[in-house]
Amino acid sequence: MWFTPQQKDEILSRTDIVDVIGSYVNLKRSGRSFMGLCPFHNEKTPSFSVNPDLQIYKCFGCNASGNVITFLMEYDNMSYSEAINYLGEKAGVQGEDRMNSESAKKFNDKKNKLFEINKQAATYFYRCLKSKDGYYGYKYLRDRGLTDETIIHFGLGFAPQNSTQLYEILKEKGYDDGILMESKLFKKDGNKVYGIFWNRVMFPIFDRSNHVIGFGGRVMSDAKPKYLNSLENDVFSKRKNLFAMNFARKSKENYFILCEGYMDVISLHQAGFTTAVASLGTALTEEQAREIKRYADNVYLTYDSDDAGQKAAIRGIPILRSAGLSPRVINMEPYKDPDEFIKNLGSDEFKKRIDDAMNGFFFECEYAKKRYRMSDPDERANFIKKVAHLIADLNDEVVGESYIKSASVRYSIDEGILKNNVRSIRQSNAGMVSRSEKRQENIKQYEQKNHKLTGINKAYALVLSWLLKEPEDYGRISKWIGYDDFVDEEYREVAKKIFEQLEANKLNPASIIGEYEDAAMQQRVSSMLQTDFDFELPRAEREVALNEMVTLIKRNSVSHQMKNLTDVNKITELAALKKKLEKPDAIKV
Ligand code: GTP
Ligand code: MN
Repeated sequence: MWFTPQQKDEILSRTDIVDVIGSYVNLKRSGRSFMGLCPFHNEKTPSFSVNPDLQIYKCFGCNASGNVITFLMEYDNMSYSEAINYLGEKAGVQGEDRMNSESAKKFNDKKNKLFEINKQAATYFYRCLKSKDGYYGYKYLRDRGLTDETIIHFGLGFAPQNSTQLYEILKEKGYDDGILMESKLFKKDGNKVYGIFWNRVMFPIFDRSNHVIGFGGRVMSDAKPKYLNSLENDVFSKRKNLFAMNFARKSKENYFILCEGYMDVISLHQAGFTTAVASLGTALTEEQAREIKRYADNVYLTYDSDDAGQKAAIRGIPILRSAGLSPRVINMEPYKDPDEFIKNLGSDEFKKRIDDAMNGFFFECEYAKKRYRMSDPDERANFIKKVAHLIADLNDEVVGESYIKSASVRYSIDEGILKNNVRSIRQSNAGMVSRSEKRQENIKQYEQKNHKLTGINKAYALVLSWLLKEPEDYGRISKWIGYDDFVDEEYREVAKKIFEQLEANKLNPASIIGEYEDAAMQQRVSSMLQTDFDFELPRAEREVALNEMVTLIKRNSVSHQMKNLTDVNKITELAALKKKLEKPDAIKV
């Protein structure tokens, strides 16, 4: 069955989250919401709350949150489409046979148009690279050791200073503004349209079937951001795609090489390692791991050898493992990344490093070991416990058995003691683990996002959550800020949807959450929208806090805009606005 976005909304509007969750969890009314014992973690007093107005749930204990689809995906392990089908059937909404449906055709037409536009853009960027305007871009790539053949193979290009030219070319070819804006290659400023990429070397991003779905652009100076990626749309999902997957999947090798950056991937391919791929400027996702697993069983991580890279590897290993892959980590010392390594030592040496790569489990142990002083008996004991945890987390007794053996040899731990420790951790985990590893991964991601909930992100989340609770305040708030003032991509996307719904007087947060097919993403959006303003505070105090948040968002947005401007008049104008905003009473929501 296939449902259009409108039909999905219809399904959600005919479904009551309280009924659905209520059939699994005993819910009791409490004020405007319903409370119950959280099905996602063990608890004795209820902290799981279901909000019938907003059609979303949240646990204040373990932070699980989402809409009715998230609940079915998480609690019943349904896939996104299973959940929609299940709810569609219950709600009596007829889906369509994917092949002949009119709306499916329309949707596909739109996707094809976006593919075409991206392809035209890639061709244009390539032409620019080879023109006088693109000379610096071309020289840059050649200086970084890329051959002409490689440049063509990856379709690299250059976005010139004049960013409107591409827009004009596409207009001439007959594309209308609607579809051009949806391509996310342009932005409007008043009546004028600009390309979002200028003065950047361009890396087209292909899906696995060789359609251009988006771009990464590396700036030619020290300006920020160093890499700019196009925003997501109907054809571009950062979670589902990997850079260079279109080439890597053709290889017969049973291993993939996972890198941090586009340049790393390109250098590796040029050196003959054609299964190198990279995620698209975000952390590795479950979908990407599953995609790799379709083609190979082994993955070698070559993330940067700095702290951020090592942390990313530690995060990636369990994700790869739960997709059924065998992760190993390549040591690139004394170089920072594979690009540098290959340049200095060549591909034969790199091949040796692949053969010597460290098993993912030992990498986790070594990473942990650095944080303990092993000469101190207490700290050594804690390290041993950590190793036991790592083994228990493998969730596989046979594999665990073999790691108990090798870890006890490697770290001189008594095998019997390690074994007992692992067993008791497994037992105490038993209740928790049954909710599947996936769930834990989601919580981890949520927590990471939430830890970052400081400063501006917190302001974003609080203002959006406020708007959901007090939609009648939309007018007052939107007088000062629009969704464009949300600088962070993810927040801006959600803010845009909320603002549009409020504008149309059709607030429906559950439908926004439902647009994301990935449960982890649903949770993230849902938690953005359920960040607690202390609604117990007296109204006057809350108003002060709201005012501060709105001011913070506006200030941040103005500073951000100033960074990306070249038009002197506009800069002067913004500088004046910035000055005004520094006054304590500049904004009065
Ligand atoms: P070079 O300086 O070109 O060699 O970059 P690199 O290949 O060493 O990449 P780096 O380690 O700086 O970054 C790795 C990857 O992270 C890039 O390919 C991008 O996908 C992403 N990335 C890096 N900087 C930014 C940024 O400023 N914004 C965004 N969105 N992504 C970035
Ligand atoms: Mn680099």
